[in-house]
Amino acid sequence: MRVCVIGTGYVGLVTGVCLAESGHQVICVDNNEEKVKLMKSGQAPIYEPGLSELMQSNAKEERLQFTSDLAMGVENSDIFFIAVGTPPLPTGESDTRYVEAVARGIGACLTKGYKVIVNKSTVPIGSGDWVRKLVLDGVAERKASLGESGTEIEAEFDVVSNPEFLREGTAIFDTFNPDRIVLGSNSQKALDMMQELYTPIIERKVADDKSLPPVPVVVTNLNSAEMIKYAANSFLATKISFVNEVANICERVGADVTQVAKGIGLDSRIGSKFLQAGIGWGGSCFPKDVSALIHTSDDYGYDAKLLKSAVEVNQRQRTLAIDKLQQALKILKGKTVGLLGLTFKPDTDDMRDAPSLDLIKELNRLGAQVKAYDPIISQSGMRHGLSGVHVETDLEQLADGCDALVLVTDWEQFSKLDYQKMAKLMANPVFIDGRNFCDRKALEAAGFQYVGIGH
Ligand code: UDX
Ligand code: UDX
Repeated sequence: MRVCVIGTGYVGLVTGVCLAESGHQVICVDNNEEKVKLMKSGQAPIYEPGLSELMQSNAKEERLQFTSDLAMGVENSDIFFIAVGTPPLPTGESDTRYVEAVARGIGACLTKGYKVIVNKSTVPIGSGDWVRKLVLDGVAERKASLGESGTEIEAEFDVVSNPEFLREGTAIFDTFNPDRIVLGSNSQKALDMMQELYTPIIERKVADDKSLPPVPVVVTNLNSAEMIKYAANSFLATKISFVNEVANICERVGADVTQVAKGIGLDSRIGSKFLQAGIGWGGSCFPKDVSALIHTSDDYGYDAKLLKSAVEVNQRQRTLAIDKLQQALKILKGKTVGLLGLTFKPDTDDMRDAPSLDLIKELNRLGAQVKAYDPIISQSGMRHGLSGVHVETDLEQLADGCDALVLVTDWEQFSKLDYQKMAKLMANPVFIDGRNFCDRKALEAAGFQYVGIGH
């Protein structure tokens, strides 16, 4: 099928590349010329394991193109994915101006033939109808500008909500091996086209385990599909806040949250995933989506108390490492703290709403110097954009003279560093494990005072 993906960020680019790998003809459109140039040269503008390789192989087989020309993408496709960002505004609402611009832009390029417009971006509930209206506005503007010849334009289309559930760092695996595909629309014609588009994924033709039964497809109306996205992310964020709250109680009563999480997670009604206690959730989705759902509830006069508490617990959790540093070092003024990891989670270069940013700010406020090492940020130009922190390019420089290390991001390589050597380089070998990621015994044997979360 002929597909156009508009917005090649963390979600759009992965979606476009994976649809090409599933055998479709895909045109990826982005209004950032620099990014388009980079993608044409075979490089992904983001760090996502395996993405550049898939981009290159699909471009070589002429299934994948990159352009900044929206009209070219629209003319040569039948299904359009809107995948531009919807960042949070200071009020907690989503900023939908990019979706608006793209929807109008698509409308202004439609000519003839039936098309499906897919909302991949996470948009406020009710946006499906709003997008439809914006596309029609775009069509009307074009018709008006063309005068007589504009009467030949026939815009026939439907809008589908198809939320994404990709985790950064494993986004390709998640696309090819989804737990479900959600399609929200009132149009059977549009739903049939979407089913056909996803057939290789539904029938596990591109899955790691091809023997699994087909992927369940959940068909709903537009509003329910939009709500599923918010409810899924809010549930997962709340689940983490729940385990973090349990961790804080564990510390007080002498229990161990890792054992407690195992003990409750084996109950199939609870499940063991997303029960890792730590210094809180961040990233481009959980904070934004929970805030947006709270905001929507407020708009309808409903006080979403549970969601508000999940955010509050998360906010408190982010500075828990500071309390632990104060307990270990007493005065932080004049001390040097080294952060292991900066990104909001491993295997990504994404710094959006990363807990490290709050930690850096609070440590600076208390007069501490902050150094950091991150496997991706330390090697990229992004390190220069960070303030209040000196980003080191190797681990020995990070440890040198530090009064404490805080593990902020659970990058795999941090589980097996030469901690003995690092402890010797430090002024004070204190290790705050913000993700309960390292082996306490190994760290203590290396000479560290080890402090975890919820132990
Ligand atoms: C996506 C969105 O779908 C968001 O709603 C969801 O919650 C998370 O995933 P993300 O992929 O993180 O957002 O966005 P981002 O990495 O910011 O990329 C957006 C891309 O769209 C950028 O490459 C930007 O250049 C491009 N863009 C933006 C356009 O092509 N046109 C525009 O008008 C605006
Ligand atoms: C999330 C959703 O999982 C995905 O389905 C959605 O569509 C996009 O948002 P992502 O933000 O990439 O994905 O990362 P995720 O793996 O969900 O982690 C989010 C945050 O929660 C990270 O900061 C992570 O460190 C934290 N986390 C996760 C925990 O603190 N404990 C856990 O047990 C799991």
